[in-house]
Amino acid sequence: MFFSTLAISALATAVIASPVLPHAVHETRTTAPSGWEKREILDRRAMLPMKVALTQGNLDKGWDWLKDVSHPSSAKYGKHWSAKDVAEAFAPSEGSVNAVKAWLASAGIAGPRIKQSQSLNWLEFSATVDEAEDLLKTRYHVYEHESGQPHIACEEYSIPAHLQEHVDFVYPTVHFDAKIKARAVPEDAAEDMIEKRDNPHGGSWGPGKPWGPWKPPGGGWRMPKWHKPTNDLANCDEYITPDCLRALYQFPINRQANPKNSYGIVEYSPQAYVPSDLDMFFRNFSQQQVGNRPILDSIDGGVVQQTNMSFNFNGESDLDLVHPSLQLPAFDYANNVEYAMTLVYPQQVTLYQAGDLVEGASFDDFLDAIDSSFCTYDGGDDPNQDAVYPDPYPGGYKGPKNCGGYAATKVISTSYGYNEADLTPFYEQRQCHEYMKLGLMGVSVLYSSGDYGVAGNGGQCINQTFAPGNSSYTNGKSGKFNPSFPGTCPYVTSVGATQVKNNTDISKALATGTQPEEACETVIYSGGGFSNVFPLPDYQSAAVHQWFSKFPPPYGADRFNNSQRTRGHPDLSANGANYVVSVDGNFSLVYGTSASSPTTGSILTLINQARYNAGKSSIGFINPVIYANPGVLNDITEGGNQGCGTPGFQSAPGWDPVTGLGTPNYPKMLKLFLGLP
Ligand SMILES: *[C@@H]1O[C@H](CO)[C@@H](O)[C@H](O)[C@H]1NC(C)=O
Ligand SMILES: *[C@@H]1O[C@H](CO)[C@@H](O)[C@H](O)[C@H]1NC(C)=O
Ligand SMILES: *[C@@H]1O[C@H](CO)[C@@H](O)[C@H](O)[C@H]1NC(C)=O
Ligand SMILES: *[C@@H]1O[C@H](CO)[C@@H](O)[C@H](O)[C@H]1NC(C)=O
Ligand SMILES: *[C@@H]1O[C@H](CO)[C@@H](O)[C@H](O)[C@H]1NC(C)=O
Ligand SMILES: *[C@@H]1O[C@H](CO)[C@@H](O)[C@H](O)[C@H]1NC(C)=O
Ligand SMILES: *[C@@H]1O[C@H](CO)[C@@H](O)[C@H](O)[C@H]1NC(C)=O
Repeated sequence: MFFSTLAISALATAVIASPVLPHAVHETRTTAPSGWEKREILDRRAMLPMKVALTQGNLDKGWDWLKDVSHPSSAKYGKHWSAKDVAEAFAPSEGSVNAVKAWLASAGIAGPRIKQSQSLNWLEFSATVDEAEDLLKTRYHVYEHESGQPHIACEEYSIPAHLQEHVDFVYPTVHFDAKIKARAVPEDAAEDMIEKRDNPHGGSWGPGKPWGPWKPPGGGWRMPKWHKPTNDLANCDEYITPDCLRALYQFPINRQANPKNSYGIVEYSPQAYVPSDLDMFFRNFSQQQVGNRPILDSIDGGVVQQTNMSFNFNGESDLDLVHPSLQLPAFDYANNVEYAMTLVYPQQVTLYQAGDLVEGASFDDFLDAIDSSFCTYDGGDDPNQDAVYPDPYPGGYKGPKNCGGYAATKVISTSYGYNEADLTPFYEQRQCHEYMKLGLMGVSVLYSSGDYGVAGNGGQCINQTFAPGNSSYTNGKSGKFNPSFPGTCPYVTSVGATQVKNNTDISKALATGTQPEEACETVIYSGGGFSNVFPLPDYQSAAVHQWFSKFPPPYGADRFNNSQRTRGHPDLSANGANYVVSVDGNFSLVYGTSASSPTTGSILTLINQARYNAGKSSIGFINPVIYANPGVLNDITEGGNQGCGTPGFQSAPGWDPVTGLGTPNYPKMLKLFLGLP
């Protein structure tokens, strides 16, 4: 069961004969991913929510446009686009829309049944199983996960050959992306944690089943032995608190929020913070915040419950609602909310709670959701009524003002990720383009880089000569490195993890100019490596070439794509070990890049605040700035990120695929960003 094969090939070109329109196979999957079994066919009359992803226009220009607004030497730095500008610039061509609509009409799906999304890239309609199977020359089945979660999918589908250039993909079909795996292998973790809770000497834990072979260590928590005060900076090597982070990265307690500023944390689970845990944390670390709660944006059917204690996230009631793989472990959840809220207070934090109850949520669903919520915002349309976008053709975009793009907080931190190898390159490129658009709009998108070093979620490594989107996994002791997505998308800022060195007093170290941190090797290993899908972005090119030439890794192409022509990650890092958090009425210690990402997001939020105070725009996509100015980060030069039976890569002077460019140096970053237009 652990070693299942996942094989997808996009855009295979075998042509199937058909008397009317010659169809061509558009996407294929040979087997279902690990843990899923094919079950019965569907009732012919059942309705499926169909979505056709149209090929967007001008994507080839996207990077140049993004560079215009985010490269420090660009005259247009900070001149971000409106959502409307973005929707218009990347709208599919009129030809694409009309061609696809004509195809749908020929199958009897026409007129008001078809809706075009606000972002203009999707055509949506409901179709019976009969209609969908006829349209796509396919056969749908229900797939069932070991947990009981159902999913509707087919093995391959076809569209008229002449439409292939206009259609990215059709949904639901071969994709299993709806199931997001939280960083820290949540599935059986709850049981393990509950067991450990009964064991006062719990220590770190290692869940495993059914997501694949558990290769310790991975993200996690442990009950600490509180033998030293947590409020003493001399103990930050054992207990990270908000004050430790402020000292390490030299950022102040915030005093005043700017109303233009915003900071969002994305969670995909039916749970929310437990209010009493928040207050318990605040009582110890941010007393004026007792009673403070995040702004809750429950989107896309996201369910929030605050009744049950958060450790019980594997309970039956939750299983009925949302697959457990959608749930961030309680300790991560608590960490994200408690630290982000504390570090930016009085700036409020927005909690995006995403999760559809039937199909689950994906990153795409989140992106869609912030799209439609923008349209109810500011007197806009009701997305339930107005999902039918006024047909903008002919004559281009005529949409209502303030509607038609994404509304997002200025910094968005997400602590979930896929293995890049789990999704089709096609799908990943499309989603990556959405992050590019967010960058154009001045949003900084952060993803944790993963907790398994060079290996993937759960310690999985890739067996076989890797063909993107066609992978199978080893038992984790060998195989090819397994980078994470969306961290490998070049328009995302990927955040790795560091730790304070043993027996290090950070105040003394900082006073003497000694680096107190190294790559995290406690409980978790900082995710990092090279993409098998995305090319090396130009902002990163010099840094990557320098690393290869000065510190050539002792691995060949059998381990990773060493062509120096693919994207490396993470971009930067922040502490990810020993976070003191309040979970379920107890203080525990938390580990993971899941913790590093919200901390980094908090620091970027403070920089945005300073820029807003100075009458400037948000910082948006930061990678071009930080790679051009690596001195604004504290270089981390020690520690590795073992995985796949290897020591992984090693931290080194300059950028490295373990800790990126290093950790934030707030005073230097602030000076740099305030100096930009
Ligand atoms: C995927 O892997 C299978 C089994 O190894 C192989 O037969 C198939 O050709 C591969 N497909 C692609 C697109 O590489
Ligand atoms: C959590 O705290 C409760 C009391 O508030 C205690 O009974 C329980 O043992 C604690 N759990 C652990 C794992 O220490
Ligand atoms: C929280 O504060 C209480 C009261 O000052 C203290 O006894 C306890 O050790 C603190 N806990 C942590 C984890 O800092
Ligand atoms: C809390 O958990 C119990 C047991 O798992 C379940 O019966 C109950 O419905 C849950 N309550 C909420 C509000 O989710
Ligand atoms: C890789 O897959 C092949 C074919 O399924 C299998 O024979 C081999 O044992 C696998 N190797 C590892 C290291 O898992
Ligand atoms: C650092 O401390 C931890 C826990 O105290 C211990 O497990 C680990 O071995 C130490 N590492 C080194 C390099 O001394
Ligand atoms: C590595 O990436 C480059 C650039 O995308 C590609 O041309 C090459 O085929 C890849 N190498 C392997 C072994 O996949």
